[in-house]
Amino acid sequence: MNPTQIIIDTDPGVDDALTILLALASPEIQIEALTTVHGNIGIEKTTRNALAMLEFANASHIPVARGCSLPLVSPLNKSGDIVHGASGIGKAVLPEPKSKPISQHAIDYLIERILAAPQEITLFTIGPMTNLALAIRKEPRIAEALKGLVIMGGAIRSGGNITPLAEFNIHADPHAVHIVFHSGIPITLIPLDVTYKCLLTTADVERLNRIDSPVARFVRDATAVYMDFYKKYEGFDGCPLHDPLTLATIIAPELLTLEEHYVDVDISGGISTGKTFADFMKVSKQPANIKVALDVRGRDFIELFIERMEKLA
Ligand code: BDR
Ligand code: CA
Repeated sequence: MNPTQIIIDTDPGVDDALTILLALASPEIQIEALTTVHGNIGIEKTTRNALAMLEFANASHIPVARGCSLPLVSPLNKSGDIVHGASGIGKAVLPEPKSKPISQHAIDYLIERILAAPQEITLFTIGPMTNLALAIRKEPRIAEALKGLVIMGGAIRSGGNITPLAEFNIHADPHAVHIVFHSGIPITLIPLDVTYKCLLTTADVERLNRIDSPVARFVRDATAVYMDFYKKYEGFDGCPLHDPLTLATIIAPELLTLEEHYVDVDISGGISTGKTFADFMKVSKQPANIKVALDVRGRDFIELFIERMEKLA
């Protein structure tokens, strides 16, 4: 079978960086491009990290298109460096990339690439959804041309990780999410409900580093600050592999339990702004618009992740 062609819209970001590595290690996937966005850190650094990651993995033939530096309406969230470190990739140090982003803006790249290959591209958004929302507004036909959209974001039954109710990627640009959720694109949502069941532990990282390699060292150094954050603020050992879990929809769909529901986001401006909710009891009478992951065999996913990193190493 031909590999699934994907574009990753990303804000690297520790777990974004691990997603890029996992995608490159997966024969089921062909990365067509990375598009960058503000999020875990500013757009300069997310773009730099995207280019540096591709060079690190000998994949600098993959184009990177730089995207939006600001959300649609909300103020820019600047809290990401506590979680991801000042560089965005923890304690990992990657050389300044030699490659440059393409001249086209991410919004225009997405429109052109998706329309050129109707029903072929699956988009993964693993940061705030500003680029995709503006691409939909500029060229609504991309909604029908996309094969699918997989989103890391939201907290359905789970609490939030940036407010008590909201998840970071959604809260960072909830108005963009509103546009995307109502666009008609076939969406699969990977919320905190499942990502918190996929914990990469310090023992896993040590195991991976039993054989010394640049990839093993990168995983160790990149996750160091991230793990300190979860230990200090949330009280557990390890870190959730939020963004990498989106790729399970292609490489191990049997690990996920998906349900179709009407899902929406609160943009009312109150305390629950950015909260994603599913209409489990069908009170809104709205048709289902999203397949949402509500359970996962988390440990199996972590084992798969480690296996693939070993292969890459
Ligand atoms: C999401 O927020 C970011 O910190 C991560 O990269 C992930 O995309 C998790 O809430
Ligand atoms: Ca991310």
